[in-house]
Amino acid sequence: MSATSLRPPTMPVKKAIFPVAGLGTRFLPATKAQPKEMLPVVDKPLIQYAVEEAYAAGVREMIFVTGRHKRPIEDHFDMTFELEVALEQAGKQELLDIVRSVKPDDMECIYVRQAQALGLGHAVLCGQRLVGNEPFAILLADDLMVGTPPVLKQMVDQFAEWRASILAVQEVPPEHTRRYGIVAGHAVNDRMMDIQRIVEKPAPEVAPSRLGVAGRYILTPGVFHEIATQPRGVGGEIQLTDGIASLLRREKVFAYRYEGRRYDCGSKEGFLEANVELALQHPVLGPGFRDWIKTLPI
Ligand code: UTP
Repeated sequence: MSATSLRPPTMPVKKAIFPVAGLGTRFLPATKAQPKEMLPVVDKPLIQYAVEEAYAAGVREMIFVTGRHKRPIEDHFDMTFELEVALEQAGKQELLDIVRSVKPDDMECIYVRQAQALGLGHAVLCGQRLVGNEPFAILLADDLMVGTPPVLKQMVDQFAEWRASILAVQEVPPEHTRRYGIVAGHAVNDRMMDIQRIVEKPAPEVAPSRLGVAGRYILTPGVFHEIATQPRGVGGEIQLTDGIASLLRREKVFAYRYEGRRYDCGSKEGFLEANVELALQHPVLGPGFRDWIKTLPI
């Protein structure tokens, strides 16, 4: 590894950016007046799954980059005084515990506005001042990840060992390369790859591999400068992928084939799959739901 890739030395990942300012056009009309990250899978909004994943990985400062639908996310992680009093008076302790567990006391939520949805790279840049000169995570909540240990925790453990930026990747079908950032490089072990190239949404004929970036990243703060100095990329947007491509010239960046399952909840198909599979696994709802599904004429 080059000397620069060891910067910053052993700082733990304590901050995460959640870009939630996208327009969510693939999910209209559900996302006309609410962010897609508030869509519930079984009984929790997508954003809560992502925040819980970050918390389980040791992150305590959650930075939400919000757009025009700011309120529902802020409200979700805020104290709901009237609801808590009502549940307390009704003696509904179990529900009260569920409500209170949404935001543990040692977790901080900070909101910053992306005035215009200029792209994922731009959204990340909006968190620069709050992140400062530390490594940080990015979680795209519309990618619902199920893993044991949770996927970001797997990545934080890798970060402690490699001390360089890490992107979560998975193999994608050739016809889907246009939906992802695609990476290529040298394998350093079964799961880690030293990235040499990253390309945003390539056509299958020119894709350098079939390894697509999923919505989990741990990045060194050097990426901010790289994003800020990029011209606009694919779709006229300020792309995170282009900033990472530029970072590659100065620092090591690794791809990590995570252990777990990803649901693309930004698409209606992925969202439905997540709901069915997570409902089947649900400790309370699962058995009844399984019985009901068997009665369907399919
Ligand atoms: P997507 O590529 O899924 O875009 O963004 P989108 O606008 O949310 O959804 P579609 O494609 O129109 O249906 C990936 C992530 O980046 C965030 C989104 O909220 C999502 O979590 N994002 C994207 C921003 O925060 N700001 C942007 O300008 C673009």
